[in-house]
Amino acid sequence: MQQLLEETLTTAWRSAWDRGEVAALDAVVAPDYVRVSRASGQTATLAQLQEEILAVRAGFPDLTTTIDSVVTQEDTAAIFWTTTGTHTETFLGVPPTGRRVQTRGCNHVTLVDGRITREEVTWDGSELLHSLGVRHLSDAQAPAGEVVLDDLSGEPDPQVMKTFNRQFITGVTVVTTQEDGVPKGLAVNSYASVSLEPPLVMVCIQKTSSTYPALFAATHLGINILGTEQRETIATFASKATDKFAAVDWHPAPHGSPLIDGSPASLEAEIRERFQARTHTVFICRVRHAEVTEATPIIYKAGRFYDSDDLTQL
Ligand SMILES: Cc1cc2nc3c(=O)[nH]c(=O)nc-3n(C[C@H](O)[C@H](O)[C@H](O)COP(=O)(O)O)c2cc1C
Repeated sequence: MQQLLEETLTTAWRSAWDRGEVAALDAVVAPDYVRVSRASGQTATLAQLQEEILAVRAGFPDLTTTIDSVVTQEDTAAIFWTTTGTHTETFLGVPPTGRRVQTRGCNHVTLVDGRITREEVTWDGSELLHSLGVRHLSDAQAPAGEVVLDDLSGEPDPQVMKTFNRQFITGVTVVTTQEDGVPKGLAVNSYASVSLEPPLVMVCIQKTSSTYPALFAATHLGINILGTEQRETIATFASKATDKFAAVDWHPAPHGSPLIDGSPASLEAEIRERFQARTHTVFICRVRHAEVTEATPIIYKAGRFYDSDDLTQL
């Protein structure tokens, strides 16, 4: 009896995860089935699980699973498994990295009349992202209702946040990389220095940016702080122009990141973390090379540019 159960579970599991035949799970799951992720605390129905399997398989089409063991005891079973796959298509907004990953997990299932009614999993999709070197800022992006510690009763809408951000004065950078020898880049003012020792910096890049897939795949990126003589360069890199480097002189940093000539300062940094924050990815990078010139940095405030040589010291 136990052996039959183990075989039934293993067969249904393989059909669903290895071949995408998710309907195979219908026969082994009870109508009130619920899946609980230990990592996120989130619950899912069978339909949501089937959707997740298809999404994972879409991102990792060669996914294969080995059931390492199934241990059954009365009305519970523990399934230990190992999954291997290559990330060749977009998964959870992460463009293909070509990386081959392996993850292990254990699912603890409760059975009623031989069917799974509850499943607790040690693994979820964010774990797979983790294997790709990507982390989710899950706490930061949880809906207000799920946040226990922070009082977000007055959470501002996007329009208020835009007004708020317009009061914040920044410089402007151009973040660059190369993809198959082609230089790419975009204007960015979300630059911040994270720490001096070690020398860490960060930028937030919108996932819809055409530069994003190249940046995501890169090991290094360049950050150029732009100056008062580079207004046109800013306009170019804030646009969707196809060859943004046609009208600028640049030189490659030691790892190939384009550094724009005439910038007040440029650096090349190694990408160390890629935090997923729904619409944006936060890149945390370790600086490997830096250049500083005498050029005057430009100031950006509420959609306008200013000359930092004209400032009145208080
Ligand atoms: C001053 C300024 C700051 C910007 N900051 C950012 C930023 O921090 N992150 C981002 O993703 N886009 C930022 N943008 C928008 C991109 O530069 C813009 O969407 C660009 O067209 C993207 O180009 P791409 O799609 O070719 O990569 C900024 C634009 C300007 C003008």
